[in-house]
Amino acid sequence: MTKKIHKAVIPAAGFGTRFLPATKAIPKEMLALVDKPLIQYGVEEALAAGIDEIIIVTSRGKSAIEDHFDMSPELESSLEARGKTELLELTRKVSNMVLVSYVRQKEPLGLGHAVLQTRDMVGDEPFAVILPDDVIDAATPCLKQMVDVFGQVESSILATQIVEGPAISSYGVLDCDPVKDNPRLHAVKGLVEKPKQADAPSKNAIIGRYILTPHIFELLEHIPKGAGGELQLTDGIKGLLDTEKVFGYTFEGRRYDAGDKAGMLQATVDFALKRSDLGPGLREYLKQIRL
Ligand code: UTP
Repeated sequence: MTKKIHKAVIPAAGFGTRFLPATKAIPKEMLALVDKPLIQYGVEEALAAGIDEIIIVTSRGKSAIEDHFDMSPELESSLEARGKTELLELTRKVSNMVLVSYVRQKEPLGLGHAVLQTRDMVGDEPFAVILPDDVIDAATPCLKQMVDVFGQVESSILATQIVEGPAISSYGVLDCDPVKDNPRLHAVKGLVEKPKQADAPSKNAIIGRYILTPHIFELLEHIPKGAGGELQLTDGIKGLLDTEKVFGYTFEGRRYDAGDKAGMLQATVDFALKRSDLGPGLREYLKQIRL
């Protein structure tokens, strides 16, 4: 099996109901965090991890995603004519970023089903999955950290974070053992989707970054409907455990659930504060708000 991860799958075919009404006509993945759509953060993270092909799973009503990564000749000519060189470069950079292919998921039957749609495009090699509404701020991009670990373990890897208290019930949770000499790595024994706090086998919650071996596709073909009546990716990963090692990896960095209104607000403040053009003004504004 190749040690290099070439392809990243970005599922973007969900309804984004937590963000209604904004997501009625605009894909959740196109909501802007400061001035970039969420999905662009995901694509940039993939590029930083050495990925050279992106496969986006879309559905009806998501054509704005394809337009975003396409050329925009009218806009480019207008910016050129008005001498807006910086904006022109910014616009061109997005369409020249990387090779992007698209596949449709006809119905949002769940994340496992969305990933299964990419089977022919991914082929017989390990690949990454990035959920674009999980935005991660990290000195070394999260997927790059995982690709480096994959080079050592050559097995599927799930990004995890420690979640305290009842919030654990919103996640897939690992039953796992620590790995000697690497405090960030855990050998997975089992997975429980959205357990009650009392039943959670650990505090290691799975978040939206995965490296998976291609064997997952065979398993996803046969999984029954799981939690929430959806075809769950975690059920496919459970199947992997019968024949392969799977690792949890506690990434270094901070993850924001930008598919959720509160998470998006926190990300917006933190990302804007870090920007040299926006941070100082926003900091002054926040100081004078009475809380
Ligand atoms: P989410 O569960 O966060 O997205 O899935 P959602 O279902 O669109 O959002 P809510 O919960 O209703 O607000 C994570 C990612 O997986 C994609 C989503 O588009 C999102 O990027 N997804 C989910 C699919 O592509 N297909 C599906 O069937 C489900």
